[in-house]
Amino acid sequence: MKILAIETSCDDTGIAILSENKKKLTVLSNIVSSQQIHSNYGGVFPMMAKREHQRNLVPVLEQALKLAKLLKITNHKSQIPNKFQTVKKILEKENTLFENTKDFLEKYEKPDIDAIAVTHGPGLEPCLYVGVNFAKALSHAWGIPVIPVNHIEAHILVNFLENPKIELPAVSLVVSGGHTQLILVKKIGNYQIIGETRDDAAGECFDKAARILGLGYPGGPIISKIASEFGGRRTSPKIVLPRPMIHSKDYNFSFSGLKTSVLYRVRDELKDRPVDQSTVLNKKFVSEMCFAVQDAICDVLIKKTINSAKAYKAKTIILGGGVSANSELRSQFEFKIKNEKLKMNLVFPPPALSTDNGLMIAVAGYFNKAKKIAPPSHKASGGAVGQKLSVNANLRIG
Ligand code: KG4
Ligand code: ZN
Repeated sequence: MKILAIETSCDDTGIAILSENKKKLTVLSNIVSSQQIHSNYGGVFPMMAKREHQRNLVPVLEQALKLAKLLKITNHKSQIPNKFQTVKKILEKENTLFENTKDFLEKYEKPDIDAIAVTHGPGLEPCLYVGVNFAKALSHAWGIPVIPVNHIEAHILVNFLENPKIELPAVSLVVSGGHTQLILVKKIGNYQIIGETRDDAAGECFDKAARILGLGYPGGPIISKIASEFGGRRTSPKIVLPRPMIHSKDYNFSFSGLKTSVLYRVRDELKDRPVDQSTVLNKKFVSEMCFAVQDAICDVLIKKTINSAKAYKAKTIILGGGVSANSELRSQFEFKIKNEKLKMNLVFPPPALSTDNGLMIAVAGYFNKAKKIAPPSHKASGGAVGQKLSVNANLRIG
């Protein structure tokens, strides 16, 4: 079985191809095109991201199929003229994507793919629609089913690619730009949210702090890099930021106050400056502030995760989402688990699979293959195309 997966829930256009043979998974390709356009604005604008997905999807698909050696130029041109009517209808709101898809379908043969997995939520609604409509169009043109995938579940399940024998129950910390959730994983497919952020996500806090410090977007990787130049706790930092909700008995988080603390500190730092230097932050201050932001976020995430893992008798802690690429977070988790002699395994994906990518959708698609939605028969192609496949920007896991 070969699954082609599509991820467009935020600002990364990802397509991957995963092959399964006797339950052994092999990655054939995993291409991600990260949109650079947002770095100038300090955040993602959904309509801008949607436009970029429309441009990127077909070139990324071509690259993914080529790498998987599944791209074959057709020798019977336009063998599917009627299908374009329906493809056009499916992509009626994505004209650029329709034109690119039509050219692609005219040029290449149907590849050896059995199903298309696609993120249908949670995420930015206009972005989700592009991916889902593209999946529907390909499903129709190639006559293969679509598997709807929950993006959060995919951040968890991608860990099973390199660790197929993860011991359950597990507690999973999914930390990204849009989410901060603690999820009890009883079994694959059986989840319970046991805690989550009441306001900003941890990644959002990294991004907003970076914007206040004038460091660009996405903030997490930049803050992490600059923080490493500070020299750590041994340097006796003067800036110590609050750890919101660290002592609350529940497993919820709150990060919006942390961003406000950064803002006030920066204002204080700049207040006695001569006018010509009124916005220039001292390099040492910035590196110490980056360290302080990262340290506060890591402290809260680790404390709450370990507390919940103990309470739910978890055998494993599973990390996922863009913030789990943070090397300080990973090493502090490892240190705490070892130091407290906890009988728990810790698993996390390689950094490239922590941030959004198509492969995580392919892996989740594989585990959810029973949920597949068959393409409508070509006779019924008028309006019934993939009606069951919907987008849900606020989709919840369990
Ligand atoms: O999972 P992801 O790629 O997209 C969403 O689903 O939101 O996560 C993106 C988030 C951004 O907020 C980014 O700043 C953060 O993950 N991030 C990091 C690191 N790499 C990405 N945060 C901290 N340290 C990193 N190394
Ligand atoms: Zn994500």
